[in-house]
Amino acid sequence: MTDTPLVLGIETSCDETGVGLVRGHTLLADAVASSVEEHARFGGVVPEVASRAHLEAMVPTVERACADAGVRLDDVDAIAVTCGPGLMGALLVGVAAAKALAVALDRPIYGVNHLSAHVAVDQLEHGPLPEPCIALLVSGGHSSLLMVEDVTGEVTPLGATIDDAAGEAFDKVARLLGLPFPGGPYIDRAAREGKATYVEFPRGLTAAHDMRDHRYDFSFSGLKTAVARWVEVRERDGEPVPVADVAAAFQEAVIDVLTRKAVLACLEQGVDHLLIGGGVAANSRLRVVAQERCDAQGIALRVPRPGLCTDNGAMVAALGAELVARGVAPSSLDLPADSSMPVTHVVAQ
Ligand code: KG4
Ligand code: ZN
Repeated sequence: MTDTPLVLGIETSCDETGVGLVRGHTLLADAVASSVEEHARFGGVVPEVASRAHLEAMVPTVERACADAGVRLDDVDAIAVTCGPGLMGALLVGVAAAKALAVALDRPIYGVNHLSAHVAVDQLEHGPLPEPCIALLVSGGHSSLLMVEDVTGEVTPLGATIDDAAGEAFDKVARLLGLPFPGGPYIDRAAREGKATYVEFPRGLTAAHDMRDHRYDFSFSGLKTAVARWVEVRERDGEPVPVADVAAAFQEAVIDVLTRKAVLACLEQGVDHLLIGGGVAANSRLRVVAQERCDAQGIALRVPRPGLCTDNGAMVAALGAELVARGVAPSSLDLPADSSMPVTHVVAQ
């Protein structure tokens, strides 16, 4: 076991400074420092605030990960770091830290794609990934449906959001309803007391012509506007807004489309494994509906535990460990951060 390389993963693409340590498929440490509270009063992540918070949190988070795992930095065999997509200033902090460690320790560095890392993390919980599998990645920054032939090299986009990301819709609707940022967990909680059929909100890109032109794509901005209008009318009429019911009805509309299209992709592409990842995969209702719909179609569903769905360093270490295990060549030391790194590009050169 100790012959298996120890990989340190660094994640700084948004507001979480994550440092994970993984050996093979074994998670040894997952230290996360979040700057979310510093952004809350702005109702969204402020890039410069996030970058500065990463700078301050980096060294203590690396130290905490090593302490948790009971290893020394010198025991690390390879470094993996998210180099895109994400906020440029935030990514740069992680990439610079990873390069410094790679030089100081004289170890290889892997600049990896954040989206592939969201897929690879499931191996830490459920073992080797079935190949191929379909991955539905839903977070504050992305909503994508991917064909994953090989998480270390062959990822093909099937569809993506054409406007807001699913998590962004949760955050914006939460704000409309007077719930704190980030809104996803608050909507999730409020919705448990609400009636999902209270209002029938629109299901984006599910009309017949959209299913022709945008079969596996998503759109959440029309839904967000529909919720805003509904709330406006209610307030104009001087009536109270039933927050739990609106949260439940909105959440149902998002989840209905996400799960319907993900299951459709599996059936049409002949793939019997679906993996859901990203922050929105922490949603309790999404997990239930996805399980029901996959069971009905004989599709095996894999969703990491909520703590591994939101951004973390373990996911980057998990992908790094897989790259090392498969003998993929490391990145060069001058690898760039790429805020719009395409999903087809798993490792930076
Ligand atoms: O993956 P993540 O931590 O960061 C990004 O890469 O964006 O995802 C954060 C997003 C936020 O929009 C947050 O509201 C959403 O994930 N989220 C949730 C839940 N927990 C986090 N959305 C719905 N239900 C949840 N339980
Ligand atoms: Zn993410």
